[in-house]
Amino acid sequence: MAETWVNSARGIGADLHVELDGPGGRRAALIRALRDAVRSGRLVPGTRLPPYRSLAADLGVARNTVADAYAELVAEGWLTARQGSGTRVAERAEPLKGGTRVARKAPTRAGGPRHDLRQGTPDASAFPRAAWLASYRRALQQAPNEVFGPGDPAGRVELREALTEYLARARGVRTAPGRIVICSGFAHALRLLFGGGVLRGPLAIEAYGLAFHRELLTSTGVRTVPLPLDEDGARVDLLARERGVLLTPAHQFPTGGPLHATRRAAVVDWARARGTVVLEDDYDGEFRYDRRPVGAVQGLDPERVILVGSVSKSLSPALRLGWMVLPQRYVDGVLAAKGEREAWASVLDQLGLADFITTGSYDRHVRRMRQRYRARRDRLVAALAEHAPHIEVTGVAAGLHAVLRLPPGTERSTVKAAAWQGVALDGLDAFRHPRTATSAGDGLVVGYATPSEHAYGAALDALCGLLPPP
Ligand SMILES: Cc1ncc(COP(=O)(O)O)c(C=O)c1O
Repeated sequence: MAETWVNSARGIGADLHVELDGPGGRRAALIRALRDAVRSGRLVPGTRLPPYRSLAADLGVARNTVADAYAELVAEGWLTARQGSGTRVAERAEPLKGGTRVARKAPTRAGGPRHDLRQGTPDASAFPRAAWLASYRRALQQAPNEVFGPGDPAGRVELREALTEYLARARGVRTAPGRIVICSGFAHALRLLFGGGVLRGPLAIEAYGLAFHRELLTSTGVRTVPLPLDEDGARVDLLARERGVLLTPAHQFPTGGPLHATRRAAVVDWARARGTVVLEDDYDGEFRYDRRPVGAVQGLDPERVILVGSVSKSLSPALRLGWMVLPQRYVDGVLAAKGEREAWASVLDQLGLADFITTGSYDRHVRRMRQRYRARRDRLVAALAEHAPHIEVTGVAAGLHAVLRLPPGTERSTVKAAAWQGVALDGLDAFRHPRTATSAGDGLVVGYATPSEHAYGAALDALCGLLPPP
């Protein structure tokens, strides 16, 4: 049995006696010991843990054993690791009240969920740091001095040119640099379009979608009208007197299917006939697994469709970089809404992204992530087939999330059970428009891209373990 004292950098009396015993080898024993120490309050939030090397030497274990244990606890949310400040006990990792006994719910209440299967996030551990750094360095070295002055609200022309070529090639988008306005993502685009008075409601939106976007529209005074969904996507045949429609045609969010070809044509016809516009949220169009990506609806009529995309799924939502591909008649209005100078999207990041795209790094990264997410999707489908064959999984041909169809009446209790067991995910109902009469049934929305690679297997096991029986 190896044992040592962890000397805390914070406070007196936080020294910790670690004993490596119990089943599962030394890595597992160290994880258990540190987790218990945080749970019980013996290691308080903010405490700095010793460097790998010294703890490894003290315990007589390999350095990698300590590094792996720390990484696992960081992934679980018990610890945080920051360059320059070492590994510390997470600030939110509150000790369990009432002593050292391990309660079932402790991991959820402590440093975040044990298994994060929430939709909306790419695998944060897969950000292409080296390639991004190379692009950023090149962009910075080559940037003329004027780059460091106020930015053009349209965005850097280098990025708009790169996007024109990329979107044509990868998404079938027909545009020109003069019709692209850079923004800081889809939410920002909604603010500019509706908050800036470029478009007005009422706006038809899919009966299931992100509550955040609905609320944002409401806060800018836009009335949203829910459009029912069926197996072919949004019921665009029910569009009436709305002034526009917001759709996720490549991969309905969150239920998962593409908008049927006849509906793609029909919605453009409706916009032409009514003199309105289709707002296309192309949030994960690059990620299609079983055949070529469905092209953007924008390609059918660049004068009737506004396409909005961002790097939030393909690279990282932390970059806050997106693009609006506009019909000519909206360009001036959007630029006026942005103001005289770029106030949102960092000009340096824009140049970095332009380089990242034109040098092929973006394509390489998307290709690599497509393979990784496809493999994860396959593992999810296989795990369900083995452990819960009565659960149908849908929406898996594309994107970064899947929908698990649950027996009627079981969604709420399953979501609760998941929270109880430290598995973060949402039920379908969380996405339902409050004024829709239709229901997509009971289901779980599972973001299979979210966990880091090493944490995915355990997340899948936990998921399968909480599904309702047949
Ligand atoms: C439906 C949907 N639209 C758009 C986005 C992108 O939003 P943003 O570009 O504001 O990060 C997301 C999340 O990534 C999403 O889930």
